[in-house]
Amino acid sequence: MDNVSGTRPLCLVTGAGRGIGAAIARRVALAGSPVIVAARSQDDCVAVANELVRRGGRAWPAYVDVTDPATLDEALLELSDEIAEHGGIAWLVNNAGIAETAPFLRHGRGGDGDTYEKHLRVNFHGPRRAIERLAPSMLERGHGRIVSVASSAGLIGYPYAAAYVASKHALVGYTRCAALELEGKGVTMNLVAPHYVDSPMTDQTVERIVKKTGRSAADTRAFLAAQNPGGALVTTDEVSAVVLELLNGAQNGVIAEMPGGSAGGKPAVNWRT
Ligand SMILES: NC(=O)c1ccc[n+]([C@@H]2O[C@H](COP(=O)([O-])OP(=O)(O)OC[C@H]3O[C@@H](n4cnc5c(N)ncnc54)[C@H](OP(=O)(O)O)[C@@H]3O)[C@@H](O)[C@H]2O)c1
Repeated sequence: MDNVSGTRPLCLVTGAGRGIGAAIARRVALAGSPVIVAARSQDDCVAVANELVRRGGRAWPAYVDVTDPATLDEALLELSDEIAEHGGIAWLVNNAGIAETAPFLRHGRGGDGDTYEKHLRVNFHGPRRAIERLAPSMLERGHGRIVSVASSAGLIGYPYAAAYVASKHALVGYTRCAALELEGKGVTMNLVAPHYVDSPMTDQTVERIVKKTGRSAADTRAFLAAQNPGGALVTTDEVSAVVLELLNGAQNGVIAEMPGGSAGGKPAVNWRT
C-alpha cells in the first residue's frame, strides 16, 4: 500500500537493534518500506540499518529510549527531512520491552528501583507515549497502522513474572480501548502476542534458569519450548511476518496470539480480540 505522497509508508520500529525488533525492521525494509531502526544501543541500530541499506532497503538508526519522550522528539527532529519526504510516519511498531523475574512479593524491592514501575515504564508507558506522539498526525492524514508487540503474558499469567505480566496486561487493555475509539478513522491498532520466542530475551531467561537450577541450557530451552501450546519456540521471523500482515491489512483491534509451531505451512496464529 502506498502513502498519500506516493511513497511506501515510513515505519518506526522501537527496540529494533536485536531480536524480534530487528527481524521486524528487516521484514518491513525488504518488503520495500523505509524504516527507522530505534533503540538505545546505537551500535546495534547502526548495524541493523547498515545491513538493510546494503540489502537494498532504506533505513536510519535512531537513539530512542521509550521511557524518555524527549529522545523520541529529538530523533524525529533529526530525521525530519526523511520523515517529510515520506509524508510522515505511517507505521509504528512498539516492540521495545524488558522482562525480569522474581517472586511477586519481592518484585518491588530490586536494587535499581521498583520492578513493577520499571516494567510499566518500558512495556506500557513506552508504547502509550509513542502512540500519543505519532497517532495525532496519522489521524490528521486519515491513515496509520500501529502494532504493539505484547506477549502471551498479556493474556495469561506466568509464575515469577508478575511485573512483566502486569505491564503486558496493561498494554493489551489500553490497546483494546484505543482500537474501539479508532474504529472507522483510518488508523488501526493491533497486537501480536507471542508465547516464548527464540530471541536474546529468551537466551537471558535460559541463562537465569540454568544458574538457579543447574539444568543444562539445552534442557531449559526444550522446557520453555514445551511451555508453548504449539510445543516449539516462536521464531523472530514468524513474529515479523505477522506484524507485516497487520501493517499491510485493515484489521483493527485484533490480537494475533502466536502459540509456536506452524499450521498449514504458516506460523500458527490464534486470531482474537
Ligand atoms: N522473547 C520472548 O519470548 C518474547 C515473547 C513475547 C513477547 N516478547 C516481547 O517482544 C519484544 C521484543 O523482545 P525480544 O525478545 O526481541 O527482546 P530483546 O532481544 O531483549 O530485545 C529488546 C529490544 O528492546 C530494546 N529496549 C529495551 N529497553 C528499551 C528502552 N527503554 N527504550 C528503547 N528500546 C529498549 C533493546 O535495545 P536497547 O537495550 O539497546 O535499548 C532491544 O533492542 C518485547 O516487548 C518483549 O516483551 C518477547
